[in-house]
Order: sequence, then C-alpha cells, then structure tokens
Amino acid sequence: MLRLATNYLKPGMIIARNIYNANGTKLLAADTALDRRLILKIKKLGIDSVYIRHPFLDIEPQEILHEKTRVEAIREIQKTFELFRLKKVVDLSTISEVVVKIIEDSMDNRNFLIHLSDIRIHDDYTFGHSINVCLLSVMLGIKLNFREGQLFELAMGAILHDLGKMMIPQEILNKPGSLTPEEWTEMRQHTDKGFDILRRDYSMPLVSAHVAYQHHESYDGAGYARGLRGEEIHLFARIVAIADLYDAITADRPYREAMLPHEAYEIMLGSRGTKLDPEFTDVFLESVAIYPVGSTVLLDTGEIAIVVNTFPKLQSRPTVRVVIDERGKVMEGEGKIIDLAVNLTRFITKVFKAEEVLEVAKQN
Ligand SMILES: [Fe+2]
Repeated sequence: MLRLATNYLKPGMIIARNIYNANGTKLLAADTALDRRLILKIKKLGIDSVYIRHPFLDIEPQEILHEKTRVEAIREIQKTFELFRLKKVVDLSTISEVVVKIIEDSMDNRNFLIHLSDIRIHDDYTFGHSINVCLLSVMLGIKLNFREGQLFELAMGAILHDLGKMMIPQEILNKPGSLTPEEWTEMRQHTDKGFDILRRDYSMPLVSAHVAYQHHESYDGAGYARGLRGEEIHLFARIVAIADLYDAITADRPYREAMLPHEAYEIMLGSRGTKLDPEFTDVFLESVAIYPVGSTVLLDTGEIAIVVNTFPKLQSRPTVRVVIDERGKVMEGEGKIIDLAVNLTRFITKVFKAEEVLEVAKQN
C-alpha cells in the first residue's frame, strides 16, 4: 500500500486501511473503491492523505499499536480533553487503562522499528498527537530499561502533556496562519495550565504533571516555561520532547505535508544537543525506521526497489526487492532481493514520494 496525498487521489483507486475519527466512527473502510463523491468527502473531512492499494507494494508495515488500542485510546483522550475544556470533574482512571494498553502493545512489539503511519483528520490532530507522543515515549522508556512503574508515570505524563491546550482559546489553537506575538505568549501558557490542572489531581503521579510543565524546555536552556537546561529538566520531559518533535514533523499539517522518515531523521539529528537531550536522541534514533518497510527507493545502480525488511541499528541498510531494473523495465515475477547489510557497496540514493511511485509505475 501507498500513502498518497489527497490531491493525487483518482477514481478507481482502492482504500487500503480503515480511517476513523476521534469518536471511533469509521469514516472510510478498507477495500472501498474511490469515486469522485468519496474523494470530495475525504477532502471535506480534512484528511490530507490516505493509504491506497498498489500492485508494487503488497506489504503491510508493522504497527506497534493494535488498531483497536489506537481507536479506543483516541476516543478516550478526546472525551477526557473535552471534559477538561468544559471544566467538569474528570476521572483519569479510563486514561490510565488506555495507557496500560499502550504499554502492553509497546512491550509486545518492542523490537519493531518505530514508524508512525496513522492518518488524522484536521480536527483530531491533538488527540492523535497525544497517543503517538505516549507511544514513542514508552518505546524510548523501554529501550532505556525503565521499570513498569516508571513507564506508567512517563506514559501518563506523555498522553496528557498538551492537556493545557484545552484552556487556550480555540481561535488561537486552530488559527491557520502564524500567531501574533501576543497569541504566542498565550499559546505558551499551555505548559503552566496543564501543570496546574494535573498537580491538583491526586490520582495523577506528580512527576507526570511535571512532564506537562516541562515538555517545551530545551536541552540548551532556550525553551519555556522556565528556561531549564540539561539535567535540570526531568528525564521524562526530555523523553517527551523527543517524541513530541518526531510526531509533529512526521504528521500531515494543514500548512505542509508530512516529512518522510529519512527527512525526519535528519531533523532529529540536527536537534541533538540543542533542543533535545543528545544521549536519549541517539537511543531513539537507533530505534527509528529511516526507510520503513514499503518505502520505494532508488539504488545507486538506477534500479528501483521496495524496502521489504529493516533491522534495528542497521536502519540505513535494509533488505530491498528490486521491482524495476536499471533500464526502467518492470522485473518479472518476484523481482530480485538485495540485502544492503551484506552488499556494502550498494546504496540508496533517493526515496520516492507516493505520487512519484505512481508516475514510475505508469511509464511501464
Ligand atoms: Fe505542547
């Protein structure tokens, strides 16, 4: 399957994955054939990209979270955030149940390379973001050999890190253009506001409240709310800052397309030691897929190949299946498998965007 930006959708293409909104309602079912009406609906719903089936790419990427866990988690987090926004009394026990499920899925799939592939509709951005930041933080916590109790405190802080945004006026939160300096000042208060709510909740570990308070602190001291630096920042908040940045740059936003994993990798590397804790960033990057299974890549020989297998710590050298030879002809049968971890003189020179894959396939 291929993640294709909505603008490139054409009638006749087949949806490869279910799409849900934050209420858990299925908006689009896998195996549906697109027609003009559906494409219009997808645009209206604020969905920037969808997975479609493609004969080159019969591979399903590995998902750390079960679909059921993700759908339930988003529904609960949306409900909880909404109650906080309405200043109602909120019981966080359902969120702790969700968090336990996310930790269980992460433990089960701890050896998977990290690759986020969820589709979000515009209105639900914050909820999907909260789930992913929780998932990525837990994955990093597992790599750092955290005990169960620590994982839970980290995960609670991570899933609620942006809770304070519910106290920020909607017109600032959803403003399509850039914010004025005054609006920025207000937006930045989401860290204090989140902390203020969470520290009063006795069912919530105090360190988790501190994650909400400190997640925009920067390792070099240039962040907010207090300008803490280095190890003055709680280690959970340093972890959540890494997860927060990674999810933000790999998600579709109204003003730009999602970055490809190898581009996101470079940005994370560039923030190592400035915005982000350098050691934790290294551990995180060891677990992130640079070329996730299903990526279409150009090899130095001019052959075009699909990534079929990836390995931790060797992420830049996946196993690929050549589908188009160096003369531009589609390979017969299964194609040719090349293990780049063994064939060290061969390398990837480019990653194709989904729309480019369609172009390449059309020429054959
Ligand atoms: Fe935030």
